[in-house]
Amino acid sequence: MPDTRLTPAPSAAVATDSPAGGRILMCAPDHFEVSYAINPWMRPDRWKEEGALLGARSTNGWELLAATLRDLGVELEFAVPHAGLPDMVFTANAAVVLDGKALVATFRHPQRQGETAVFRRTFDALKQRGLLTEVHDMPEGVVLEGAGDCVWDPVRRTFWLGYGQRSDQAAAAVVRDLFGFEVEALELVDPRFYHMDTCLCPLNGGEVLYFPGAFSAEGNARIRERFGAENLIVAPEPDACTLAVNAVNVGRDIVLATASPALRGMLTERGYTVHETPISDFGLSGGSAFCLTLKLDRKSK
Ligand code: ARG
Repeated sequence: MPDTRLTPAPSAAVATDSPAGGRILMCAPDHFEVSYAINPWMRPDRWKEEGALLGARSTNGWELLAATLRDLGVELEFAVPHAGLPDMVFTANAAVVLDGKALVATFRHPQRQGETAVFRRTFDALKQRGLLTEVHDMPEGVVLEGAGDCVWDPVRRTFWLGYGQRSDQAAAAVVRDLFGFEVEALELVDPRFYHMDTCLCPLNGGEVLYFPGAFSAEGNARIRERFGAENLIVAPEPDACTLAVNAVNVGRDIVLATASPALRGMLTERGYTVHETPISDFGLSGGSAFCLTLKLDRKSK
C-alpha cells in the first residue's frame, strides 16, 4: 500500500484564500535517481558512478528551489515520495490542474505508470482538505503526462498540449471537454524536447519563451499566429539544452536552473526578474524547474 500522506501545510489555509504567489505541489527527491532511460538526457550509467554525489547535490538544489519559491510568496504542498518511483519528483507530470479540477496523469512508459495511482491518492487528499474540488481520471488507453505536456497560457486562456513523444493527441479532446477551454495540440518533433514544458513556456505578460526546433513547421506557424511576433522570446539552443525553457513564472519572477546572459537579457528587457537555482542535476533525468512543480490553484480568470 503506497504511502500517500501529505505533509501538513505550514498554515491551515482555506481553499478560497490563495497565497500571493500561488500554491504549488512538489515532491522531495528522497528516491530520485536515474535508474532507467526514457528520454535522451537520462544516463543511468553516469548515475551509477556518481550517484551519492548527484543525489546529495540534487536534494540540496531541490531545497533551494523550494526556498526560492517560498520567498516569492508561494505556499508549498508535498506529495510523499515513493520508493521505486524516482520520477515522482517531477510533479508537473502528476496532473493537469485548473479551476480546482485535477485531471490525473497517465504515463507512456511502464517505469512511470505506477505514479498514476499514487498521485490519484495525493489529489484525493488535497480535495479532502478543500484545496481541490474535483479529481478526474483519464479515459482508459489515453496518455496525458499532466501539466508537463499540457501547459496553460494565462493570457489566451488556452492549453498548449504536446503530443508525439509521450502524450496522445487524443488527450486534447479530454482536456477541452473537462476544463472547457481551447487546446492547441502541437506535435513535438525533437526527442530532446519530449514534453511540452521543455520547449514552451507561456509567460504572465503574454509572451512565450520557446525553442522553435522542438516543433514542426506547422506548430511553429501556430505559435507565431497565436502569440504574435512581438511576444516571441526564442531560447538560444544552448539554453534550451540546459532546459531553461522549463521555467516557473510567478508574477514577474522567473525561476529556472541557469540562463545565459543572452537569455537573461531578453527576459529582463521584458520586465522579468530571473532567479537561478542549482537544480541542474535534475537535467540528468531530463527535468528542471517547471517539471519539479505543479500549480494547484491555477485559475482561468
Ligand atoms: N525522467 C523524467 C521522464 O523522462 C523527467 C520528467 C520531466 N518532467 C517534465 N515535466 N518535463 O519522464
